[in-house]
Amino acid sequence: MILSKPIIFSAVQPSGNLTLGNYIGSLSHWSIIQNNATCIYSIADLHALTSFQEHRLLRKITFDTLAFYLASGVDPKKSIIFIQSSVSEHCQLNWILNCYTYFGELIRMTQFKHKSKINSKNVNVGLLNYPILMSSDILLYQTDYIIVGHDQKQHLELAKKIANRFNVLHGKTFKLPSNYKLNDCHVKIMALLNPTKKMSKSDVNINNVIFLLDDKQSILRKISRSITDSENKIFYEPNRKAGISNLLNILASLTGKKISVLEKEFYNVSYNTFKKFVSDTIYYSLNILQEKFLYFRNNELYLQDILDNGSHQASLRAKITLEKVYYKMGLS
Ligand code: TRP
Repeated sequence: MILSKPIIFSAVQPSGNLTLGNYIGSLSHWSIIQNNATCIYSIADLHALTSFQEHRLLRKITFDTLAFYLASGVDPKKSIIFIQSSVSEHCQLNWILNCYTYFGELIRMTQFKHKSKINSKNVNVGLLNYPILMSSDILLYQTDYIIVGHDQKQHLELAKKIANRFNVLHGKTFKLPSNYKLNDCHVKIMALLNPTKKMSKSDVNINNVIFLLDDKQSILRKISRSITDSENKIFYEPNRKAGISNLLNILASLTGKKISVLEKEFYNVSYNTFKKFVSDTIYYSLNILQEKFLYFRNNELYLQDILDNGSHQASLRAKITLEKVYYKMGLS
């Protein structure tokens, strides 16, 4: 019996500069997973339109994102890498799935409520339909697993619901995806000045965020100002010591050491010394990543070649699913 490899899909929205949270929570795992699965990694530029302010920068950020995929070790010979807008099947399936999703389901989405509150001047319908486009991304490729952050899990549940609704009415058409379980290091990195909310590339306060292109001084400044507590003991307790626990998570992810080992190592160390160590570790990791990033980013012809090839491979797969759907719908 030939066991085919599982299909794994993930994407990042190019709506700002990538952060340490994107790297630790997602990108750093991609290159490992690609060895045992068929990985499809997309750059979700259409999703970025729902809240993107500076459209003239979209192309630049899309290329930056691609260069970071490569710098993180994603190999175009092993994985399919493409820009969402270059495979038109995403929009085509999106329309059909619109007709299988209820308005009530969309307005209940936590992300929609949150984004419409923080950007109340631009509550566009794209923002509401965002999870349906995301469902289309996932379902087109008969995906077994998707890799997403904690804040996107509700969208994955909706994708499963839509797929199941469609399958029940029309016969099995879509595979129902699951969430890929990353290892213990899969942690959510929190905002430095407010460690109860996620580190986000669209945060208005840049001091909450370490960007992947930050230099040594900025890293040191942001980490030394990060919010901790007055206990002066270093141990892991996310509820009571959210700031210190966040720094421990960052350190554990970047060094590969267990939290319990780090707790022993730093228990009696002062917060200042600890923070200096954390910022040196971040700098060291990012410096290596930045060198690779620059190497790829300076070769746009090579990047374009990867995208052309990736969109060709993605379309071949997407077309098969869309044809089935069109046939079942009575479309031509
Ligand atoms: N919405 C995701 C995010 O902001 C990005 C994304 C778009 C995605 N389509 C996807 C992630 C499909 C996983 C699967 O993180």
